[in-house]
Order: sequence, then structure tokens, then C-alpha cells
Amino acid sequence: MTNPASIGQPMDRVDGPLKVTGGATYAAEHTFDQQPLVGWIVEATIPAGRIKHVDTDAAEKSAGVAAVLTHHNAADQRAFGEPADEGRFTQSRAMLFDERIRYHGFPVALVIADTLANARYAARLIEISYEPEDAAVTMVGVEADEVPDELDGGMEADVFKGDFEQAYNNAEMTLDVTYTTPHQAAAAMEPHAAIADFDGDQLVVYMSVQLIAPSVKALANTLKFDPDKIRVLSPYIGGGFGSKLGVHNETVLACLGALHLKRPVKVVQHRRHVFHNAPHRGSSVQRIQLGASRDGKLQAIGHESFMPMAKGYDFAEPTGASARTTYQTDALKSTHRVRSVDMPLADSCRAPGHAIGSLAFESAIDEMAYKCGQDPLAFRLANMPDKDPGTGQPFASHDLAECLREGAEKFGWQSREQQPGKRPEGRQLIGYGVASTIRVNMLVPSKTRIRLSADGTLTAWADMTDIGTGTYTILTQIAAEAMGLPAQKINIELGDSRYPKSSGSGGSFGAASSGSALQDACENMRARLLELAREQGVTGDEPADNARFENGQLIWGSKTLSLTGLIEKSGEGYLETEGKVEPGEDHENYSQHSYGAQFAEVHVDRDTGEVRVKRLLGVFSAGRILNHKTARSQLLGGMVWGLSYALLEELMLDDRYGTFMNRDLAEYHLPVNRDMPAVEIHFREKPDPRSNRLGSKGIGELSICGAGAAIANAVYHATGVRVRDFPITLDKILEQLPE
Ligand code: MOS
Repeated sequence: MTNPASIGQPMDRVDGPLKVTGGATYAAEHTFDQQPLVGWIVEATIPAGRIKHVDTDAAEKSAGVAAVLTHHNAADQRAFGEPADEGRFTQSRAMLFDERIRYHGFPVALVIADTLANARYAARLIEISYEPEDAAVTMVGVEADEVPDELDGGMEADVFKGDFEQAYNNAEMTLDVTYTTPHQAAAAMEPHAAIADFDGDQLVVYMSVQLIAPSVKALANTLKFDPDKIRVLSPYIGGGFGSKLGVHNETVLACLGALHLKRPVKVVQHRRHVFHNAPHRGSSVQRIQLGASRDGKLQAIGHESFMPMAKGYDFAEPTGASARTTYQTDALKSTHRVRSVDMPLADSCRAPGHAIGSLAFESAIDEMAYKCGQDPLAFRLANMPDKDPGTGQPFASHDLAECLREGAEKFGWQSREQQPGKRPEGRQLIGYGVASTIRVNMLVPSKTRIRLSADGTLTAWADMTDIGTGTYTILTQIAAEAMGLPAQKINIELGDSRYPKSSGSGGSFGAASSGSALQDACENMRARLLELAREQGVTGDEPADNARFENGQLIWGSKTLSLTGLIEKSGEGYLETEGKVEPGEDHENYSQHSYGAQFAEVHVDRDTGEVRVKRLLGVFSAGRILNHKTARSQLLGGMVWGLSYALLEELMLDDRYGTFMNRDLAEYHLPVNRDMPAVEIHFREKPDPRSNRLGSKGIGELSICGAGAAIANAVYHATGVRVRDFPITLDKILEQLPE
């Protein structure tokens, strides 16, 4: 009988009951003997300049206030961004360091009181005067001309293959279009939060963070602390999406508070804080040039990206990622330029690069298909690459064409009206859209330790995180299958810097990396158990291949031995092994991606321009699926987000002040249930042994890539109106709608 916990089974989340009963302790919920004091962040009201004077007297005397921290009395720190030769996840994230303002909303004080209400009230009594300086905030009408050192993920800023200019100029069919995407927020359900507790020697930090080991280093760098004296815990996270990859303001502020008062201090970002004090996705201007033969063969692909970069915070999003890898071309030009701005930090946001890169690029590909008089699906299929156009490397596996074909079949693509804007039903215009889906597939060094106890339970430890993706569950399944144990016998312990260093969660690499390390640990455990069985002389000369682990037993040849019996006889009471994974040659020498194809049907109201998405369908190829339920949930989430990017989301910038105007979830528009159509998700399950020993591939960020473009392309097909400025709100199509 199949183990109901084995890999692939749509097992319910093992942490589900804890989450729905309040038993899962999030960062701000840890309790102490003494209630933590509560900090309130006071934000700068200018985007650039200096604090001239700050008067905290009245606030300090206010009811319940324990301290008011400013750059005058906060603990000693390293300057923001030091050491300069380290990356953004480990550099100092100093707060209240000097009088300099980095952006509007930058913390200038922390009021610490017995209650949130008292802290928040006292904050209003602080008087601050500033010496403002000219701020660079806008991307409109200014050139972004700085070349970033590198792009997120270590990609090169510029890639050139062949002679782009010549190929483009000689092409029979050309397209030269510019797309823009707005600033966007990750908008995780759980706001950024931390409690720091300093007991005179050790700093213990409960926080909501995706990568734990780098956060310890970042706090050590910031606070000039011995990293061995810092413990970070992040066992449950209410969504991160890149905005919680590393240490952010609330955590450093909580630490400064705890160091100052020698008491636990909690700082939770208010929802309005999150929009400025947590990172966001920067806006983009993407110029796309395509050259093709008259019969629709791409000959030149150009993609130029222009984005903001927060001063002193080196993060450049690889928006050109889709243009570099999706279609065959001999001539490629992909460049990235940034403008340094006095703005809240731009940083990773779900599928950095491919998410908004595909939004623009897959829209432009659609434009080119129509220009060549071709069906957008056939055009894509006619331009499949045989190797990665950007790197020249072979693909570890490639399944894009099959996803497109299978999706078209399931969606009913052939029933589509060829001409855009030509299928009215009453006052509704009906449109179908398609887009390719690609997301890079990574493997990151990861370690795990496991213990098999004499009571038959297996515990695994790693500083891995579960950001809501289902890590606890898939790790349970990996261990259950490898060791032949039921899920109830497996404890997965995550989210503590005292545990072995793992990949953490990000870039869709978490499951593959931490899962492979666990698989390795289990294989080592199995080998150790076979050794024990041999030592105990109970199995004769059976080859190891004949051994099976099932229902807590080792079945070896004619013998059946209980694991608990083996361990008891070994005398130690338990067995421990370690496991690890590191990316090898398969990741160095092959281009590795997960694939998919997404289809959308939209209805556009002729009178109001309102777009309603009626159907979304995706076919995805991400190697072996570790859990069909949690994998599907990840894909669903990405498709919701795709709809959101295409039609709703936009952080509105007031470029006089460098502020986002819609700093809450009422005015930062996200889709609600009523906006979501029926969603159909299909897997093409093809384990890829070059990806990792489990054969799985990254899935968390897969469907967000392409979902938005499929919808945008459906809007064009419905209306004949091509909107190149996202989101596609009704005002942008209304006047051009057919009568
Ligand atoms: Mo990823 S940008 O950490 O969701």
C-alpha cells in the first residue's frame, strides 16, 4: 500500500491544525515572563536630507514610555551597507545611526512604551526639524543610465549575442515598443515584525524572515556583535515574497530597543509602515525590439530595462530574464540600467525578473505574432529554442512547447476567433490570450541533521523556513518516503539559527535544496541502519539493494527487523546522521528552468471598459511534484498575482515627496474572490535528474511568470486595444473600444 505521506501525495499541511487554532507562533506572538515593551516607528517626512534637531522631552515624559531612541542615544552600529564587499543580505542595516535621511518614511525615532497606544501617542509629541536636500525619486522624464554591477541572482547586467543591430535592421518585420510597470508591493499578510530579547550576553531575535543564517550575519554586522551570540528564530511566516528575505527596519529597531532597555522589545510594522519600511518591487520601463522574417521566425530580440535603485542598496532586478531565455534567436541584446533614487528600498519581489519581465516581453511577443499575421500560439511554437539563447548552454530539460500544446488543447484554443475585437456577445467583447511561462530553477547549498529515536520517531533540524509554501509538509513527505515511516512519526524542526544551515526560502529553491539535503540525510540513515543490522549479525550477506524500509521496519531479504529494535540494541538510544546538498556540474553546465503555458479568457464591457477574467488555465512542468496539493496552491497564488499585476496593482508615487500614496490594502488594489475566475491547473510531471536527486524543480514563483501576460493578451484579443502601461485599468482602453 502506498504510504499516504509519500512524495507527491496531496497531503494536508502538517502545520495546518496549528495555524487554524492559533498554535503556530508568529514573530510578534512569542510570550515571555515579562510582557515585551512595544516600539512604534517614527518616520521621516522628507525623502532626502538631514535631521537638524530632534526634541523628545515631551514624548519621554508621556504615559507608559520607557525610552525614545534616536540617533543620539541608540547603540553603536556599523554604517548602513558595510562591509561594502558583502551582499545586501548580510550588510549592516543600521537604524537611528546618524542624521541622514535615506527616504521618506525612513525611521528617525523609536518610541518604546508599555502599550502600542501609549507609544503611538507619544510619537506625536516628538518635534523634529529637517534640512531637506534635493531628492531623486521619479523615473518619468529622466534617464536611468547607471550600469548595475550585477543583477539579482548574479546575472550580468548586459548580454549580447550575435549582431543585434544588423539582424534587427535587416529583418523584414520589426517591432519596437516600450512597456511600463509600476512600483508594486509584496503585501504579505503578516506585516514585518520582530521581538528582540537581550539578556546581557545573548541576543535572541524572533522575526519573520526567509533566510536565517544571513540574517544572523546581518545583525552581527549591524550591531558589531559576535554572531555566535545572536540567535534568530522564524518558525512561522505569514508570507514573504522576497520582502522578508533579509533583515529589515523593525528587526534592527527591536534589537536597539532591547540593547537599550535590557528587556524584550517588540516592533511590528503598522500596515502603512510596511509600504515604506519594507522593500517593494521597483517600477520598470522595458523597451522591447523584435525582428522576424515575414513568415514569423524571430531573428533579433532586444530588451532594455530601466529601473530605480535605492541609493546605497544594490539591488537590480533582472527584468530581461524572459527575453534572454524563452525564444530562439541568433541576435540578442539585453541590457539593464538603473537610476539611483532617494526612495524606499527596491528589492526582490516574487519571481524577480521573470514576473514583470514576462508581463512586458510576452505581451510584445504577442504583438509580433499579430504583426506577422500569425496565431500567437503558433508563433510561439515556431520559435522554440534548442539551447538557451542567452547563455548558449543546453537545457537540462525543456518542456515549453509541450506545455503550450497541451494547454491549447485543454483550453479550447482552436475555437478562438482569429481577428481581435471581433467576438462580441451582447455588450461584452470576448478574448483569449496565451503566454509562455518560464522560471529559473536553482539549487542552493543546504544542510540537515536527523535523529531516529528508539521510540520510532524521526526528527529533522534545519534553519529552513516555511513562508506558507508548505515546507514542513513536503519535508515530512520526503522523510516518510525515504524511511518508510508514517507522517505522525516525523517531526520537522525549522526556523532556528541553531539548526544546520539550509538554503532558506526564496527564488523557488527552498523545497529542492532543503529537500535534497534531507533526502541525503535519510539515505545516510538507511546506510547506518543496514550497518547496524550487519553488526548485529541478523541479515547475513544480503546486498543493500534488497533492503526496503516500510512501516517502521527494515525488510531485508527474508528478514524483517523493526527500526526501534535495531536502535535499542545499538545501545545509544538513537541514531543521528547529517545530509547536505550543493549545486554541481548539472547546474553549472545546463540552463535550468521550470516551464508552463497559461491561457486566459476575458470579457470586456464595451460601455465601461471593465475587464473580467472568466477563465484561467495553466499547464506546468516543474519536474517531480512533491505534494500535488501544496504545489497547486503555489500555482494558484501565482495566477491570482498575475491577474493582479495585469489589471490592478500599482503603488502610486507622489514624486514631490517620494511617497507612495496608497499605503494600505484598501487603496493598494488586489483581487478579491469576486475577481477570480475558475482556475484550472494541470501538471506535466517529468522528474528531472539534473535538477536534484529528488527530480523536483522550483514551483513557488512559476505561475506568476506569464499569468499577467496571458490576461493582457486576452484583453487585446477582445478589444483590439494594446495597453503598454500596466496595470490595464479601464480608463486606458475605454476611449479606444469599438462601438
Ligand atoms: Mo522570492 S522573491 O523570495 O518570493
